[in-house]
Amino acid sequence: MEQRIINADIITEDDKIEQGLRPSRLGEYIGQEKAKKNLKVFIEAAKQRSETLDHVLLYGPPGLGKTTLAGIVAQEMGVNLKITSGPAIEKPGELAAILNNLAEGDVLFIDEIHRLNKQVEEVLYPAMEDFAIDIVVGKGAGARSIRIDLPKFTLVGATTRAGMLTAPLRDRFGVVNKLEFYNVMELMQIIIRSAKVLGVGIDDEGALEIAKRSRGTPRLANRLLKRVRDFAEVEYDGNINFDVAKTALDRLEVDSQGLDNVDRSVLMTMINKFGGGPVGLDTLAAAIGEDPGTLEDVYEPYLIKNGFINRTPRGRMVTEHCYKHFGLENLMKKD
Ligand code: ADE
Repeated sequence: MEQRIINADIITEDDKIEQGLRPSRLGEYIGQEKAKKNLKVFIEAAKQRSETLDHVLLYGPPGLGKTTLAGIVAQEMGVNLKITSGPAIEKPGELAAILNNLAEGDVLFIDEIHRLNKQVEEVLYPAMEDFAIDIVVGKGAGARSIRIDLPKFTLVGATTRAGMLTAPLRDRFGVVNKLEFYNVMELMQIIIRSAKVLGVGIDDEGALEIAKRSRGTPRLANRLLKRVRDFAEVEYDGNINFDVAKTALDRLEVDSQGLDNVDRSVLMTMINKFGGGPVGLDTLAAAIGEDPGTLEDVYEPYLIKNGFINRTPRGRMVTEHCYKHFGLENLMKKD
């Protein structure tokens, strides 16, 4: 599968710069009003009682600010943030070492927590519940388990799908928040804020054009902003207005609804190879050369949310809106 500028999942050098654009306090964080309001209350309550914040699960498509929120929780609580991910922790001992090195109250962020292996996940249960880990020492008949106390900590777990978590893990989170796609006005505010941080001039129309094409995702909004800035600096006077944004985004082949060539490939495959569907997830994934999980978690949510694809019991189908977007009404099946 080709690289996409709007891939929110792969962390690049650019994303490291993007981290500098992330807000560090709840008050600066734009959007996700429900999650923000809840977290504000729980953080305040924990601080008033001088307690550690309960474990927090954040779920939703990539690029919506799960890591950013974990950073904000740590900042607001006045503690350190340690970041790791499910696939990065291969052995129980590695997780035990991470946990043992935390300071009292620290936030441990585990991204893609649904990808922890079973043995590692089992270390988390007593760690989350009792702030302790059980370690087996010795072998055979002489083996015994000793319990090591851990500092009290807050686990912030992130996953693209809460349904992928095992019940024992899910049940150990006291706070569960679903992150939603951002609306265009929120993205516009994020872009204007980021432009200020980057020191690039932008007007409302320029910000709006980038916002419309950012698939509801701040990580993409910031990435597109940086690419548009490149065009603005090299081919224009350095400022971003509607014309600069439109020209740059057209050249990047991100269309008026934020679809890029990967989306177009998914939708055109459905139309051309499967008559618009219904087509099963696995079949479609094989046809576009992508892993079914990635198709479902990364590419599909935006296409479904924006009415390009419907999920039906018989499989995925492209919608009338999709045919119209591509000017292919003539290919629509009549029933
Ligand atoms: N940058 C990335 N995500 C953001 C958000 N939700 N609010 C403000 N700036 C951001």
